[in-house]
Amino acid sequence: MTAEYKVNGAVAVITLTNPPVNGLGHSTRAGIVDGMKKALADDAVKAIVITGAGKAFSGGADIREFNKPEAFAEPTLHSVIRVVESSEKPVVAAIHSVAMGGGLELALGCHYRVAVPGAQIALPEVKLGILPGAGGTQRLPRVVGLEMALNMIVSGTPVMSEKLAKTKLFDQMIDGDLMEGAIAFANRVADARPLPKVRDIKIDYPNYEGFLQFSRNTVKAMAGPYPAPLKCVEAVAAAVTQKFDEGIKTERELFLELVQTPESKSLRHAFFAERAASKIPDVPADTPMREIKSAAVIGAGTMGGGIAMNFANAGIPVKILEMKQEALDRGLATIRKNYENTMKKGKLTQEKFDQRLGLITSTLNYEDIGQADIVVEAVFEEMGVKETVFKRLDEVMKPGAILASNTSTLNVDKIASFTKRPQDVIGLHFFSPANVMRLLEIVRGEKTGKDVLATSMALSKKIKKVGVVSGVCDGFIGNRMIEQYSRQAGFLLEEGCTPEQVDKAVEKFGFAMGPFRMGDLAGNDIGWAIRKRRYVEKPDITYSKTADLLCEMGRYGQKTSAGWYDYKPGDRKPYPSQLVNDMIIKHSADLGIERRKISDEEIVERLVFALVNEGAKILEEGIALRASDIDMVYLTGYGFPVFRGGPMFYADTVGLPNVVMAMEKYARGRHGEAWKPAPLLARLAAEGKTFN
Ligand code: 3HC
Ligand code: NAI
Repeated sequence: MTAEYKVNGAVAVITLTNPPVNGLGHSTRAGIVDGMKKALADDAVKAIVITGAGKAFSGGADIREFNKPEAFAEPTLHSVIRVVESSEKPVVAAIHSVAMGGGLELALGCHYRVAVPGAQIALPEVKLGILPGAGGTQRLPRVVGLEMALNMIVSGTPVMSEKLAKTKLFDQMIDGDLMEGAIAFANRVADARPLPKVRDIKIDYPNYEGFLQFSRNTVKAMAGPYPAPLKCVEAVAAAVTQKFDEGIKTERELFLELVQTPESKSLRHAFFAERAASKIPDVPADTPMREIKSAAVIGAGTMGGGIAMNFANAGIPVKILEMKQEALDRGLATIRKNYENTMKKGKLTQEKFDQRLGLITSTLNYEDIGQADIVVEAVFEEMGVKETVFKRLDEVMKPGAILASNTSTLNVDKIASFTKRPQDVIGLHFFSPANVMRLLEIVRGEKTGKDVLATSMALSKKIKKVGVVSGVCDGFIGNRMIEQYSRQAGFLLEEGCTPEQVDKAVEKFGFAMGPFRMGDLAGNDIGWAIRKRRYVEKPDITYSKTADLLCEMGRYGQKTSAGWYDYKPGDRKPYPSQLVNDMIIKHSADLGIERRKISDEEIVERLVFALVNEGAKILEEGIALRASDIDMVYLTGYGFPVFRGGPMFYADTVGLPNVVMAMEKYARGRHGEAWKPAPLLARLAAEGKTFN
């Protein structure tokens, strides 16, 4: 059993001992009930304290148990809470660090709760596609009020314990030693009767009907095809409209409905995928790391500025180097403007604004950056320019500094070869806007040192990115796959679609943005430059010419107020363009293609399965360590709907034999060669296996 029982004078202490975060798995639940029985049977015990060992009070239900029978085995969390709440001796929850999900629900079942400041309090179930299923939706509104509870449950966002100090959630905030304070509190309330129960508190919210209707409308509009948030509102509504026991029943029904949905399974996959990504099999967790206390960035363009902001946001001083003062001034002005915008939105205080800007300095001189612990290069994407920069960095950087490149297409091993220290060279591929996007592809060169890799992974966490390791190949994981997706998008135009139709179908599937809106945002000229290179390097590969024709019209996207769509100056809203649609139709005619009506299903299948097939090749070649890493790349860098778990998990959900069957169908159409199943995909499908 993963809970400990000890007696301290008249107080029994039950301590959850299920690392890493005291998830309420079966053995912990059984341990709590066992502890309660012992405490109730011991006449010397007058009160009980429940707490958690290590880094959490409790992180909630053990997510690893979700698909296993143990999840439903007695004692369930409901039974545990029933035992605690109906105890004749007062039970006090002593909260520190983290009280989330089922952990908070357990605390709400206790008669009293004490906490230290700085603990994260949350019902984050919605982020896993479910809702609090052990009374959280019924009890939290009774202690923090309807509005606050609804916000916490629908958003899943943690609130710090000190912010809730004045609510009925906490009976006492403890400034010193938690256990000392909790035991003293327990001794004080040992004889108090009747024992207070959260379930008995009345919710006082006269105009609740109006509020709930408003919440339903807002949440419905925001959640789109993702079901959990609206069910959260329904469950909270039951706390006001139904008696406690009925409300609990309603919550249970809604919980059981949600837990079976593919959305919830996908979100649980994403949760573990994110944590798995930081583990590199041949780089153990205890690999010594290099210290990163200062950074430098080369290039203050689109990427360099955003990268520098990441360091400053994490409190790491950063110096930006440019070739000319004008370029530096431009870059620094953009950084300032970005921070000003964040401040205007109320998300940054003046103090933090000053602090962050104060951490960013600039120079035109390489000697000034020599002492930085890490340097990230973000200059023009040309091997010749990278060569000049890395040779210079090799001269000036102190021994042991990490030399990183933000290149998106060039060979990191070649870049490393420009230095006499290839073990210090690594690719750190940020995504635009670099201060916003969560993904960081960590490109491991042939000679990259394990300590450099481990340090880069730790750094990704420090700057709040999701680091995913990629081997060296053209486009790494994300861009190599997106090329196949973009090719299909182009072919769809030739065969009968408009950009708007493709974008709408993919956005309905849940992507943040369709391929053509995305192209307009990023700049269509970037892809054009890549294709021009490919026409020379890989003459066999075919692309639709529509994107080239578009660029020849000078329609690079939002930056030229014209791309696949028309734009009004200062407005990012896309308007379908007659000119572009005429160009597409004419191009089909020039190719002799009879345009046909294409279903949304075909659009989504062709785009997503193109990703899956390339992903399978990437996996087989060892460029990605695991299928779930590919999923993380797409969830955090490419707007793939998180409730579908990423392309590889989605393919597993559809069933790999079905994916292969669809590919065989498309192989009979134009550009059929693109649809040859990757050997790994074909093998797994034949064996009835999955990627994940
Ligand atoms: N169950 C099982 N394992 C969990 C877990 C949980 N609830 N929460 C975290 N873990 C594991 C992680 O998988 C990770 O394991 P690993 O080291 O083997 O990779 C480890 O704990 C540490 O996690 P993090 O890297 O996320 O550590 P942090 O310190 O950054 O964050 C945390 C800790 C805030 C607790 C964060 O992990 C978190 O948000 N966890 C999810 C909490 C949650 O969603 N709880 C609700 C569960 S559902 C529920 O309770 C249903 C109930 O209503 C019936
Ligand atoms: P950019 O053209 O906006 O900025 C490049 C900056 O580097 C310019 O300010 C230029 O003055 C400076 N520069 C050029 N040569 C230099 C040198 N020798 N020394 C110092 N400064 C120099 O380019 P962007 O978009 O920021 O791209 C930079 C790198 O990031 C490229 O390798 C690119 O492939 C990569 N990248 C770009 C992404 C994007 O969406 N723009 C996404 C991910 C990676």
